[in-house]
Amino acid sequence: MDQERLLRELSEFLRIPSVSTLPAHNQDCRAAAEWVAAELRRLGCHDVAFLGSETHPVVWGKGPDVPGAPTLLIYGHYDVQPPDPLAEWTTPPFEPTQRDGKLYARGSADDKGQVFCLLKAIDPQNPRVNFRFLIEGEEEYGSKVLFDLLKREPQRVRADAVVVADMSYVAPGWPAVYTTLRGLCYAEITVRTSKTDLHSGEYGGAAPNAHEELARLLTRLKGADGKINIPGLYAAVKRPSKAELAAWKKLPFNEKDFLNKRVQGKGLVGLKKYSVLERLWALPTFEIHGILGGFTGEGAKTVIPAAATAKVSMRLVPNQKLTTVQRQLAAAVKRLAPKHVTASVQFLHGADPAQIKVDSLAFTLLDQAFKKVTGRGTVPARAGGSIPVVPALASAGAPVILTGIGLPDDRLHAPNEKLDLKQLWDGIQVFRTFYELLGAQPRM
Ligand code: BES
Ligand code: MN
Ligand code: MN
Repeated sequence: MDQERLLRELSEFLRIPSVSTLPAHNQDCRAAAEWVAAELRRLGCHDVAFLGSETHPVVWGKGPDVPGAPTLLIYGHYDVQPPDPLAEWTTPPFEPTQRDGKLYARGSADDKGQVFCLLKAIDPQNPRVNFRFLIEGEEEYGSKVLFDLLKREPQRVRADAVVVADMSYVAPGWPAVYTTLRGLCYAEITVRTSKTDLHSGEYGGAAPNAHEELARLLTRLKGADGKINIPGLYAAVKRPSKAELAAWKKLPFNEKDFLNKRVQGKGLVGLKKYSVLERLWALPTFEIHGILGGFTGEGAKTVIPAAATAKVSMRLVPNQKLTTVQRQLAAAVKRLAPKHVTASVQFLHGADPAQIKVDSLAFTLLDQAFKKVTGRGTVPARAGGSIPVVPALASAGAPVILTGIGLPDDRLHAPNEKLDLKQLWDGIQVFRTFYELLGAQPRM
């Protein structure tokens, strides 16, 4: 493997600031799509196409025909999350930099580096299986373009297996396949208390304050004990089986290390009667991402803000449904807001949770590939994050393999995101082996 050349090529991909949620980066998203398309053409794909959007297209490709071999659909995303807070990056997010065997850049692990790994594992001279590619540019913003495409053209997901490498090992040395993903319900909650801002001396004491009302509303939605006070929310939540909970106890996960090495905080929160893994993987959440409004400039201004908005999201777990949770959240906000407040909820994007059976042949082959290359096979685990389109990828009945070559400390969505290069080099060997094993199967 020519590691120097591969690093140069990956760095080129990572230098494109393809932030899908910010319209200022539309052209960059397009440029990242072009990068992927060029790569697919180099692999000998015919029928490379940009689908569904000019600025955030799904990149489609069909690999060279391998008669009699199974079809493998590769899914990934070329878009990334915003890089802020910029000041906290040791080196700039879109100037990929190597330090201590790690490559630092936004998107290095999520998901450009992993898409790169899946592609570079393919031998263009001997592809082994019939590849299909769906590499999208809006995963970090709810995957609307791809959803609409698959609604129009569901045959695009027809395959013998689907592979998604957008996750990590459960611990260093412990590759994993994931049996569930949480869903997501992203919303803005806006509170208005008066027509315009007011002088806090003239009006303070009698006029309502939008930020104060929003703060109260938010803390009513989730109490200090971690319980979410949205009527009906927990009714659909299905607890993991005793066997699954027992299996989690054998995973290399330690609550103290999780706090000290990964959260790097002073304490954990949430529903204390459940284990940390159950809180991360099998229970719904309510998080506040940011609060807008009022005066946040330099210096001091004495004003009563008339409006305030919180960006929030909820994670959903198996058996919950996005549409139901949206209704429940909107109703709870209406019910908890006092009469002197106008509260509204606007939904930005969302995803249903996903549940995957990991007992088909494709999983056995991936397990063998990991064992051969890294010395350890895959353990089943759950994921706390979301990939909106996974239920749609599974809709034609092909097994969807959720896996990845990242590590738990890759700092996805945060400053100083990185990818360990050893993980990448191993990953390329693992997937190359997987393609070989799959290709040796008769059509599945
Ligand atoms: N790769 C992540 C999903 C992920 C992260 C799964 C960690 C398992 C463990 C993906 O890119 C992601 O961040 N998804 C978003 C989806 C959302 C914006 C619709 C997420 O989970 O916040
Ligand atoms: Mn991702
Ligand atoms: Mn992500």
